[in-house]
Amino acid sequence: MSRAVARHDEEQVDYGETILSVEGLTKHFSQGSGLLSSIFPKPKVKAVDDVSFDIKKGETLGLVGESGCGKSTLARTVLRLLEPTDGAVYFKGENLAELSGEAVRNHRKDMQMIFQDPQSSLDPRMKVGPIVEEPMKAHGLYEGEREERARELLEKVGLDPHHYNRYPHQFSGGQRQRVNLARALAVNPDFIVCDEPTSALDASIQAQVLNTMRDLQREFGLTYLFISHDLSVIRHISDRVAVMYLGQLVELAETDELFENPQHPYTDALLQSIPVPDPRAEGRRGVLEGDVPSPIDPPSGCRFRTRCPKLIVPAEYDLTDAEWANVRRFVRAVDRRTFEASTGRAIRAEFFADAEPRGDAAAVVDESIEAILEDDWDRAAALLTESFAENSVCAEEKPAYHVEPEYGRGEHFAACHLHRTKRAD
Ligand SMILES: Nc1ncnc2c1ncn2[C@@H]1O[C@H](COP(=O)(O)OP(=O)(O)O)[C@@H](O)[C@H]1O
Ligand code: SF4
Ligand SMILES: [Mg+2]
Repeated sequence: MSRAVARHDEEQVDYGETILSVEGLTKHFSQGSGLLSSIFPKPKVKAVDDVSFDIKKGETLGLVGESGCGKSTLARTVLRLLEPTDGAVYFKGENLAELSGEAVRNHRKDMQMIFQDPQSSLDPRMKVGPIVEEPMKAHGLYEGEREERARELLEKVGLDPHHYNRYPHQFSGGQRQRVNLARALAVNPDFIVCDEPTSALDASIQAQVLNTMRDLQREFGLTYLFISHDLSVIRHISDRVAVMYLGQLVELAETDELFENPQHPYTDALLQSIPVPDPRAEGRRGVLEGDVPSPIDPPSGCRFRTRCPKLIVPAEYDLTDAEWANVRRFVRAVDRRTFEASTGRAIRAEFFADAEPRGDAAAVVDESIEAILEDDWDRAAALLTESFAENSVCAEEKPAYHVEPEYGRGEHFAACHLHRTKRAD
């Protein structure tokens, strides 16, 4: 390797040691501005809420979740491109929130970010050589060897060093993302946040860019936080995977453990919703029902509970698993009005043929069926939600458990109360 891209050996952190530690990180957005909103403040968007995780030097932590769940906000808050509402981010042992001015600038050099859209993040009027040199100039680094370094970096990321004088529009999407990689590497960072870096690319190009990223990781000792909504990309690139839902982490484990032994019903649903190549096999249908609730007013306790097929029975009802499964199905169907209000007998036959609840639970079901027959679906839904959903431990406490892994020896975190009941049995 030539002098220009040789690494300095001034690391404070060794391979396998924690390089980044995120503790209780929270980002709430205020909506609107000006006088009116200061008199009548609008509710906040709770985009990221109490998120904690560590990343070890040299590893790739994958972050996956549906669009809008807070992945980009989390990434930007980690890098302090957004001011956190609460919580701390330690990078190489220093709390970024407590640093200011020069110290933040220095750390920013060590932490780079690559975005999804390679087109819009490259200035169309600049040639790619100067684009790669830009961060070196901004940090006053590599004076006198910038061009040499830029050419070498272009080669490292799989481009022709002679492309130095070309403009971004002369490259394909995959090549432009490689230019972004070269630019991110220009100031010799330790940590790169990759926010959906290959999502805009065709599958085959995507795989090639991912492989280059892996090679660069090894060569330069990089640590990645790799964000994607695509589970197969996440599985391919990650050492460990964190799953995010509505602003919070619901599960975190080593990659094989997470994919082979998922312990959160949301992760389970995500994995089942990966499209299967065989059209005869069961596809996406019925796996994840209902809409993601608004981050302005997220559900109490477990945020997934309004869509969870495994919601835990409230302690005051004595129901068998089969009876509770039917009640849950009924609650969801009433909430979404997915059946016709015909007769009480027909409704019972549809939902409770094999197992009908007894006692207090039966009284609630009876009353809600009466309401439906009077065409008062709202009252029925409110009664069911109040009696069953809101009384569950899932609504009352925020879950956080450590589970024994089946694959590997890494920690397995699962934010689901099913692990509490298992232990109590
Ligand atoms: N600047 C902002 N102001 C208000 N709300 C925002 C802002 N940026 C993001 N959000 C909201 O925060 C939530 C998370 O968004 P985002 O982090 O972009 O999710 P993802 O990257 O997972 O798709 C969304 O509900 C989004 O609308
Ligand atoms: S805590 Fe309850 S609602 Fe949340 S995922 Fe677990 S079972 Fe479902
Ligand atoms: Mg995003």
